[in-house]
Amino acid sequence: MDSTPKIDIHCHILPDWDDGPDTLEQSLAMCERAVQSGLETVVATPHIGREFRGRECDSPGISQAVAQLQNELAARQIPLQIVPGGEILMGTVDLFARLPADKALSYAHKGKFALIESPFAAWPDFGMQIVNLLQNKGITPILAHPERYIDVQKDPKTLEKEVLQGALLQITAGALTGEMGRANRNCALQLLKNGWVSFISSDAHNTSHALPADCVNEVKKLLGERAAHTIFVENPRKMLEGARVFPVSADTNDDEDDEAPNEAPRGFLRRLFGK
Ligand SMILES: [Fe+2]
Repeated sequence: MDSTPKIDIHCHILPDWDDGPDTLEQSLAMCERAVQSGLETVVATPHIGREFRGRECDSPGISQAVAQLQNELAARQIPLQIVPGGEILMGTVDLFARLPADKALSYAHKGKFALIESPFAAWPDFGMQIVNLLQNKGITPILAHPERYIDVQKDPKTLEKEVLQGALLQITAGALTGEMGRANRNCALQLLKNGWVSFISSDAHNTSHALPADCVNEVKKLLGERAAHTIFVENPRKMLEGARVFPVSADTNDDEDDEAPNEAPRGFLRRLFGK
């Protein structure tokens, strides 16, 4: 089973936009590195609701910036597709109020999934409110890098309500490789063991951050071949298609091959309903 990641769903790859690359050349270097790792698609997820380079980052202009980078890639025959997205700062409720009409705030502009991050070093008290607000609008929230939040590191169950409510977790490749410190790594491993993680992506801002391909083997060892394939290959593809996505549990002996493609994995239902 080839689990080489083809889609990176969280990356700051647009030049001169947020705290990602300063120049087009730096951005292209990130793109070339992504291709070398086996990636075919990178979602540009610039920060939205935060200030960088003397301006408040917002959704207008992201499509154009993505198209410009795509043109530069075509001119250099670099085989990488850039898809628009954004990483929305929680707390800026007016941003969420604009969804789903402002599709530029959502993944691939489909109004189905939105990537959100906490404004603090911790998971905020109002986190569940934001999850509910998005779900009431038909949007599945994807929580960016939960392993970096101090209260989640202390007790991963901090996010249990959100996960059971249907929020999806995206952990960062660099947390698993250890480049972000022991606390991040331990928390990421625990979230994976809990069967709560749906995605692993780079959150790269330059060419030094770990890529999803760097931690495929570790996830295979931890959860099994099938689970790794779901996290690295199937879930990112389904998400960009706007299909349903579930958290991924470790492979079990009662093989899930006979399940319908969009059925919730048994492990997830078992945790939800005790079956
Ligand atoms: Fe990010």
